[in-house]
Amino acid sequence: MKKIVPVVVILAAVLFLGCAQQATKEEQKIKLVEEGYLTVGSDIAYPPFEYTDEKTGEYTGFDIDLMTEIANRMGLKVKFVNTAWDGIIPGLLAHKYDVICSAMTITEERAKQVDFSDPYFEAKQVILTRADNTEIQDVDDLNGRVVAVQQGTTGDFAAQRLVDEKGIQLEIKRFEGTPEALMAVQKGDADAAIIDNFVAYIAAKENPDIYRVVESDEFAPEYYGIAVNKDNPALLEKINEVLKEIKEDGTYDKIYNKWFGE
Ligand code: ARG
Repeated sequence: MKKIVPVVVILAAVLFLGCAQQATKEEQKIKLVEEGYLTVGSDIAYPPFEYTDEKTGEYTGFDIDLMTEIANRMGLKVKFVNTAWDGIIPGLLAHKYDVICSAMTITEERAKQVDFSDPYFEAKQVILTRADNTEIQDVDDLNGRVVAVQQGTTGDFAAQRLVDEKGIQLEIKRFEGTPEALMAVQKGDADAAIIDNFVAYIAAKENPDIYRVVESDEFAPEYYGIAVNKDNPALLEKINEVLKEIKEDGTYDKIYNKWFGE
């Protein structure tokens, strides 16, 4: 009898520990909105990061390649949900997708609502004006001008800051999408746009007779991150792990060079 008691106690302890471990494992499990898929919300009208290839009709871009690679390494298929920028964070909070990858800048405000992965891209704002406009050389030259932005982007916030903090009298025209903001500059409905640098570089490179890029020291570096729901820390951890892996093994550079090589 004396020998049996300790055995029972040990058995009970092992059982208890097993259950406890099971419970924490359960908590740390990656949650997915659809089994077998990494579902990605993105405002897919933002070349070269995410856009529709006119010939094939397929989604393409730096973010698309990056997320496809990340999903593959997680043993998942990737599925993109084209989402208006305006509702992109609410859509994540409503679990319409697992992550946002949409050239989204990591900001303090956004980080109150979502978790961000480690930064995966450095960017900054620039001014995009018409090629024939030689007057706009820096932010001060935006005084008395109309500036187009995509609503709710860091370009929008930067334009607002020029008004609030630098006293530059500019009128902000807010558009639902970046293509509309670029179109406004092209048509002369706006004198300039404030947008992410690589989006501006591509627009000006493809249409040098329409657009010209103006850099300014007024704009600080920004970093893109992949947004994950705060209730899904295991997914965030996994994404950071894979991101690190592809940075270390050269895959990130490969994707980078494909899109920004020259
Ligand atoms: N980087 C900017 C921001 O986070 C603009 C991103 C817009 N992305 C897009 N796919 N339209 O506010």
